[in-house]
Amino acid sequence: MRSNTPASNIKSPTTSAAIEKFMQQQNDLDLLRFITCGSVDDGKSTLIGCLLYEAKCIFDDQVASLKQESITYGTQGGDIDFALLVDGLAAEREQGITIDVAYRFFNTDKRKFIVADTPGHEQYTRNMVTGASNADLAVILIDARKGVIEQTKRHAFICSLLGIKQVVLAINKMDLIGYNESVFHQIHADFESFASQLKFSNITPIPISALKGDNVVNRSPHMSWFRGPTLMAILETAPIPNLANDHGLRLPVQWVNRPHLNFRGFAGTIAAGTVKPGDEVRVLPSGAKAKVAEIILFEQSHDQAQCGQAVTLTLDKEIDASRGDMIVSAQDPCEVSDQFEVDLVWMTEEQGFIGRSYGMQIGSNWVNAQITEIKHKTNVNTLQTSPTRSLELNDIVVAKLSLDKPVAYELYQQCRPLGAFILVDRFSNATVAAGMINYALRRAANVHLQNLSINKPLRHKLNGHRGKVLWFTGLSGSGKSTIADIVEQKLHQQGIRTYILDGDNVRHGLNKDLGFTDADRIENIRRITEVAHLMVDAGLVVLTAFISPFIAEREVARSRFEAHEFVEIYVDTPLEIAEQRDTKGLYKKARKGEIPNFTGINSPYEAPEHPEFTLSTAETSPEQLADQLLAQLDL
Ligand code: ADX
Repeated sequence: MRSNTPASNIKSPTTSAAIEKFMQQQNDLDLLRFITCGSVDDGKSTLIGCLLYEAKCIFDDQVASLKQESITYGTQGGDIDFALLVDGLAAEREQGITIDVAYRFFNTDKRKFIVADTPGHEQYTRNMVTGASNADLAVILIDARKGVIEQTKRHAFICSLLGIKQVVLAINKMDLIGYNESVFHQIHADFESFASQLKFSNITPIPISALKGDNVVNRSPHMSWFRGPTLMAILETAPIPNLANDHGLRLPVQWVNRPHLNFRGFAGTIAAGTVKPGDEVRVLPSGAKAKVAEIILFEQSHDQAQCGQAVTLTLDKEIDASRGDMIVSAQDPCEVSDQFEVDLVWMTEEQGFIGRSYGMQIGSNWVNAQITEIKHKTNVNTLQTSPTRSLELNDIVVAKLSLDKPVAYELYQQCRPLGAFILVDRFSNATVAAGMINYALRRAANVHLQNLSINKPLRHKLNGHRGKVLWFTGLSGSGKSTIADIVEQKLHQQGIRTYILDGDNVRHGLNKDLGFTDADRIENIRRITEVAHLMVDAGLVVLTAFISPFIAEREVARSRFEAHEFVEIYVDTPLEIAEQRDTKGLYKKARKGEIPNFTGINSPYEAPEHPEFTLSTAETSPEQLADQLLAQLDL
């Protein structure tokens, strides 16, 4: 058991004046956010526990209960087990592992700290990304007996990807290698050679023993050869980026506050920069200019506000701004784009695909974003890159995104809060990826939609009917093409301009390059959606007959059209019946294993949840179904 039980330096202030002074001192301290990376075995929790204990950041009663718990749960034979101070979650104790990001707050008399403690297991990349995304410094823990291992590289890569510039290389368990200097230097050299490919600006190696407290807060008596700083000395002096000064004003508009006609305030939290009344600002993406009239903070008018504060601004003239817009300094605005190259960390078991559209939250903005290209995926253990067409859990890729609206942004490596975003599954609302903007592919302002003279309403007038898409979906052999063919003939007889886009036909031309993997089907449907969109704009009634097996792509297709233009028709034929009919003999082949990824056999079909029409083909003829459909269609 340790003998040097320090008395806590957290004293409860007694008088109200003392309380105020104490609070003021706390407020005046600056704040360093850091992350610790390492595995259960590297002694990470022990290190954080040791930092808190030696820096006297825990209450005396916590020390007493820690001693008691060390006897009950500890792994140090009754000695204080610092890990217990940190592994707060019951589940962690039971399983002996850390399972989520735990944020801990502590302070010394020089600084306040928030430490993100993230698990070391490979499947928890997502937690590490979360913990690293707002950290200013990373403590990367290495077991001196093992040196730089794959996991060290993975942690370093993710820290660099997430924009951390300062690294402390805490080479731990020096006590177990007899405080050997040359091992320390060798590990440092190994790490430097790997990290030369990353974007760190400085790496400080420190030989420590978290268990014995060597070089954590106090200098080690066992390593007089080490002249560098202790871990705490680094934490107390590491520079902290200054978002207030390094950028012009960036205020993502969270909501427009309009309690009565004479007041219109734009509320949000300042993400970077500062603002004063009279400052000239721009609202992005529109670019409209105005001056700041008033800054309201906690219902009071203020003559300045800065980064991190939640404010309401009023402007000197009526301009349009809504949630998702960004108010920026007119002298130092940020850019606007709708296409980006990004880093993506895939965080879900659901596969991700090129061509699929996701919800994207960036700042206070929600837009739809389509992954248009995956440049490559990085093996985080070796940094080698390889091509891929789909995204799996924990994949880290460089990809291109195309948004349905332009957004104001900053590059992630320059301003993390405004260059970071998440992608969300549009149906389950689950977060599927975290992303960082590397650069914009072009300024949205450079490509405008041409405003042409002959438009949809004029074509409607000429044709005597509106354009529409009748989107038939169902299994192969369900009868989509047969019914669509009859419907088209009947529409044609009524003088309606039509066109059928049929799976088998289009796959001979436009989509000749596509097969039947999930990724190819998604691309197939994306292209068909765009072609159908052009045809509807041209005034045609388009009938599409594609299996279109995924709800997600059919919903993207729907969202591309006006509400009355998209009619989803589910051709409901049970698999047994489609297979019995087997008009093309494909089911037989698929059953024999001759066709991989055959819909219904070894590739999924997601039936529509709310189609406009369901045509059950089991008992009704295609002729009758076509008539039923036409009777209810509003053209
Ligand atoms: S989709 O899934 O991408 O929408 P699409 O409708 O274009 O498919 O093509 C389906 C047609 O391709 C089927 O009707 C069938 O004739 C043929 N086909 C060939 N291989 C497959 C397969 N593996 N799965 C489904 N259909 C296939």
